[in-house]
Amino acid sequence: MKYRQKVGYVSLALATIGLSLSTLAADPVTPNLTDKLSQLLKQEMRSVQSAMATIHVSMVTGDHKQVATQAQQIHDSFILKQSLTKQDKKDLMSAVPKGFVKLDKDFHRLAAGLAEAAKDKDTQKQYELYNEMTGSCIACHSKYVSDRFDGLAEQ
Ligand code: HEC
Repeated sequence: MKYRQKVGYVSLALATIGLSLSTLAADPVTPNLTDKLSQLLKQEMRSVQSAMATIHVSMVTGDHKQVATQAQQIHDSFILKQSLTKQDKKDLMSAVPKGFVKLDKDFHRLAAGLAEAAKDKDTQKQYELYNEMTGSCIACHSKYVSDRFDGLAEQ
């Protein structure tokens, strides 16, 4: 077998392993959160949920200003940017894996994009970003909150 071909097979195998690992459900983060972090996160989630509902109706009725305001609010509520004490930050970092932090960052980045699309009055783009954000809710909940949301637990 040619060297190049071998390398090709090995990297294909590694890619396959990586793919199957990344689709495995991670352990839920909820039991690792301190009471304070759990309270903060739930509070943030409830405000995200209500902002998403308002964005939905505003988007489908062309109220770009409201979409922008609400999306910006989601972006600004970023739990990692809130005034957590040093100790809270430490607690958070030891409670959640890197993948969780990445999903949270991606989610808030999408919210910033949505605010931009609203300022541009670009409904198609808002629609795409809104759907991507919904995908983020499902991805994070099914991977890291499967204890509470067992209807989403990965098979
Ligand atoms: C990066 C991860 C992550 C993303 C993204 C995410 N969530 Fe959550 N969500 C959580 C975690 C963790 C909890 C459980 C918190 C707990 O029980 O301590 C939660 C809980 C909730 C709850 C229950 C709150 C309560 O009062 O107990 C709602 C509602 C919710 N999320 C809505 C959403 C919506 C809507 C989206 C997307 C627009 C979303 N979440 C995106 C991690 C995420």
